[in-house]
Amino acid sequence: MTELIEKLYRTCDLSGSELKSLIETDDEEAAELLRSRADEVRQRYYGKKVFLRGLIEVSSYCRNDCLYCGIRRSNKEADRYRLTREQIMLCAESGYELGFRTFVMQGGEDSFFTDDFMCGVISELRGKYPDCAITLSLGERSYESYRRMKEAGADRYLLRHEAASEELYAKLHPAELSLSHRKQCLYDLRSLGYQVGSGFMVGAPFQTTDDLIADLRFLQDLRPQMIGIGPFVPHHSTPFAEEKGGTLALTLRLLGILRLMFPKVLLPATTALGTIAPNGRELGLRTGCNVVMPNLSPVDVRKKYELYDNKICTGEEAAECRVCLQRRIESAGYEVAAERGDCVDGQL
Ligand code: 5AD
Ligand code: FES
Repeated sequence: MTELIEKLYRTCDLSGSELKSLIETDDEEAAELLRSRADEVRQRYYGKKVFLRGLIEVSSYCRNDCLYCGIRRSNKEADRYRLTREQIMLCAESGYELGFRTFVMQGGEDSFFTDDFMCGVISELRGKYPDCAITLSLGERSYESYRRMKEAGADRYLLRHEAASEELYAKLHPAELSLSHRKQCLYDLRSLGYQVGSGFMVGAPFQTTDDLIADLRFLQDLRPQMIGIGPFVPHHSTPFAEEKGGTLALTLRLLGILRLMFPKVLLPATTALGTIAPNGRELGLRTGCNVVMPNLSPVDVRKKYELYDNKICTGEEAAECRVCLQRRIESAGYEVAAERGDCVDGQL
């Protein structure tokens, strides 16, 4: 294992069979070596900085029916909400005061959020906060919609590919969703000049090591500026309620591998990782992660954006999360960077 990790560290790549053994190893020494190499590489490009992104969960309405997700349209028990333009602006205002210089507007695929509505919010944010990055995470939309929102002032777009293997993609999604369309959206976003984030879940039902290798290969082709991964966490009112969740060890292994494969990428320690272990995000930061996305959504809607069970931070005010995160980041040996936090390599 030592040799494989050193080879990945030196060359940023491994063969399929090498990746397979690294992904599957439960050797603790290997885990520690991978962690320390990943940390060394993140520090080479980003020092001890951890970038914060203020996450505004704008809507829990979704037209899609992904089998793993708590806000899928078939979940009749979900309590739905959408924020008004004024509420979004208030979240951004409190975020700006707390030092955030990136706002992420994330939501289900909600047809109420038309291009006109989104462009209105984006231009208002752009005018008010010229020093901030505006990130969108609103799922699959048309090329024209992505184009208009970019023109209105958006900089970045997060759209996980979810699963790069056709077979697995089909097991996690209803028939009307396709991997090829998902990929098309990602290539469209990139060609429009967005900084792009993609990613996948770890330990999703039916996922094999070969599926994970397919995810890594797809990311090598796409070369996104950000890669978001987190463990699959079951949600009680989805078809996957009884499935096992992704493990901490496997998620950390993949984070380490991603940092060595993509030395300059932005790698968030995700909320899902913080949900499956109390110190999950700190462990992520020590294994190559350099971004955290605390929640700026109003407290009264937080419980309703429930993609999976036991999601953390659902009772906390934005300011509380900010303080809590600062403490966590510093206790892990890193420092909060109050800046836009662009990827050090514009075009990876
Ligand atoms: N467990 C973990 N992550 C999930 N997501 C959706 N449902 C779950 C779940 N049950 C992730 C998807 C999506 C992102 C916003 O949240 O990967 O892209
Ligand atoms: Fe939200 Fe700790 S990060 S309460």
